[in-house]
Amino acid sequence: MTTASAPGKIILCGEHAVVYGQPALAVPVTQVQATATVEPAPEGVWIDARNVNRCYRLEDADPSDPLALAIRLTFEHLHLHIPHSTFRITLDSTIPIASGLGSGAAVCTALVRALAAHLQSPLSNPEVSSIVFETEKLLHGTPSGIDNTVVAYGQPVFFKKGQPPVPLAVLQPFHLLIADTGIPSPTKATVGEVRAAWQKEPRRYEGLFAQVGEIVHEARSIIERGSRARTVSTLGELMNGNHELLKMMGVSCAELDTLVEAARAAGALGAKLSGGGRGGNMLALVTPETEAAVRAALERAGAKRVIGTVVGQ
Ligand code: MEV
Repeated sequence: MTTASAPGKIILCGEHAVVYGQPALAVPVTQVQATATVEPAPEGVWIDARNVNRCYRLEDADPSDPLALAIRLTFEHLHLHIPHSTFRITLDSTIPIASGLGSGAAVCTALVRALAAHLQSPLSNPEVSSIVFETEKLLHGTPSGIDNTVVAYGQPVFFKKGQPPVPLAVLQPFHLLIADTGIPSPTKATVGEVRAAWQKEPRRYEGLFAQVGEIVHEARSIIERGSRARTVSTLGELMNGNHELLKMMGVSCAELDTLVEAARAAGALGAKLSGGGRGGNMLALVTPETEAAVRAALERAGAKRVIGTVVGQ
């Protein structure tokens, strides 16, 4: 029996603009995890996706099934033939689905890793990431590749589409609260809507994407080189600026804005939506001193779940 796991992820800044070639920063969230276990089965290949209550044979999988694609691509990558294999893959996850925490990428990453280990050919992070990228295309249409990258590498990254990720060296750890609106965030739909809006008004949208890109460069330099005081306060202002730009792109919603405002009013240094938007999660930058008050304010404002994480620890 082989087992592998993969963390969730959160985008610190740069979502949506990253699809158009701008950089973005993303960090793994180890408080939530996807796990995959592979064990021999008497016959056939079985996918037991407990996270979505489905158990089926690989040969019965829908052509648009990302788990089936991940299995086929792993075999292809290793130059092996599925018909000679009989095994059961069990998948489980504590990462909420469609919430901007990268659940699809994490489940596929855990699957590819566990399967490759079962086949006695462990894969490197770039290999896993490139297989999972193909499954992300099935799920999200035209993804940038940031989700599969940060989840497969399992470390904070500075990411640009089509380029190897650059590990983000966090000089001073900082605290984040991640709060869920409880509303599903349809990444495929929001990415598609931003694309349609960009096609209609290319100059306006490219201007917004470029401003996001500047925020990301500035945030990276503060995280990697800033003093402690500058790290937290300036990073917060950059997050606030990024949220405004995401609102202008049309990907926020009343519930996300309510949580963002509640966090700021309770002392967060900055707050923004994170991921595809229209629901899903938001992020608040806090200090150990303000964390409890901001958490309580988020819960009062309707957050369905609040996760605390420290980046760079
Ligand atoms: C989703 O986590 C981030 C988006 O920028 C889409 C992508 O980069 O593929 C919204």
